[in-house]
Amino acid sequence: MNQPVKGFSKWTKEGKIEWIAQSHFAQPDAAIATFKQYWHPDAALQKKHDEFIENTVSNYFLPLGVAPNFLINNRFYSIPMAIEESSVVAAAAKAAQFWMDRGGFRAEVLSSTKIGHVHFLFHGNSHDLHAAFPTLQPKLLEDTDRLTANMQARGGGILSTRLVDKSADLANYFQLEVRFETKDSMGANFINSCLEQMAKTLKTHLGEERVEVIMCILSNYTPECLVRAEVSCPIDQLSDGSGIAPEEFAAKFFQAVRIAEIEPYRATTHNKGIMNGIDAVILATGNDFRAVEAACHTHASRDGQYRSLTHCTLDGGVFRFWIEIPLALGVVGGLTQLHPLVKTSLEMLGKPNAHELMCIVAASGLAQNFAALRALTTTGIQKGHMKMHLLNILNQLEATEEEKAHFTRFFADKVPHHADVVAAFCAHRGIPIPAVTKTTV
Ligand code: MEV
Repeated sequence: MNQPVKGFSKWTKEGKIEWIAQSHFAQPDAAIATFKQYWHPDAALQKKHDEFIENTVSNYFLPLGVAPNFLINNRFYSIPMAIEESSVVAAAAKAAQFWMDRGGFRAEVLSSTKIGHVHFLFHGNSHDLHAAFPTLQPKLLEDTDRLTANMQARGGGILSTRLVDKSADLANYFQLEVRFETKDSMGANFINSCLEQMAKTLKTHLGEERVEVIMCILSNYTPECLVRAEVSCPIDQLSDGSGIAPEEFAAKFFQAVRIAEIEPYRATTHNKGIMNGIDAVILATGNDFRAVEAACHTHASRDGQYRSLTHCTLDGGVFRFWIEIPLALGVVGGLTQLHPLVKTSLEMLGKPNAHELMCIVAASGLAQNFAALRALTTTGIQKGHMKMHLLNILNQLEATEEEKAHFTRFFADKVPHHADVVAAFCAHRGIPIPAVTKTTV
């Protein structure tokens, strides 16, 4: 059981599965069957998936849902969302529908500059380094010409280079900070290649013995790659169908946002809900959700305290609600060309460029937050969740479609506590209630 293994990466896929099954599972044949059950029957397509990562043994399915009726900058979008959490797609669709009748989302990219660093130690007189830098700058650009030619042809490339002295924080530590425009690509490979070339140039011109390159890497914190999305309407048009007066709803909603602006415990959950909307679109469109998460959370704590990514005002009788976030996205390169569902998702969105995708993703995050706060400040979050909760319990009980319809009607006006659903289900089937039932929360 769980013995170390040598040369695993070199084994065939079958060999890997066999070893895992035999050494980790009480029923190896069942484990092998489960892995293989999720292989794609089209061998060529499966091979593509195998080659996305290393040591692939199977595919891990996530549902791809669609939230229609997103009116963003006067254009309708149906937004693809890859996510496992129930209620997220429904919430996005509901918020989209709500704002569709109130002018929709207005979104704009504030800038799309990305940043990368050569982190190095300078073992010499720092005045020499500062003095040499202006003559070094053109050389840094010249030496990356062959790398940047294509990007320049697309209107992108290197925007600036700067020497940053960090030696007060860490002895001998300097950065070559480089700003990039990468147009429709996320640009990670391009940025890292340029930085590695620049590190060589630094060493060549300043001396191998004086420049100790620690690392060359883009930063996933992209405070200059920013998008803003907003919704607004007169407060008296905020009626949400729950019976609460628009003014009362607006006031509670405003306070909910204020709480997330000043209280990190709440801000974390508040922003998590925003990321429900953001990550799902990021995944569906083949982008890097870890990079986006990292950037958004750094942005949320940029003044030293973790705060809400959304903001709200109620001035002059107008409800205004917006999000401003860093999003470094691409619509070319990487998975966008390789994963058939990513291509399909981008086509569903009308083949957006990177800026349009930034607007769509920001609107999705804002919609998600609006839906969550609307539920939290009016009916409470459990009402919507409980519907899906009931369905999950019924699926666990392997209820038929007829039974699901029956119990959805039966619990329409009741809270479907796990034990009650199991009891009602067993009574309906005329079977005994199991002594221990698994609960889902
Ligand atoms: C659940 O995934 C997300 C919420 O907790 C977000 C929030 O509380 O704002 C509902």
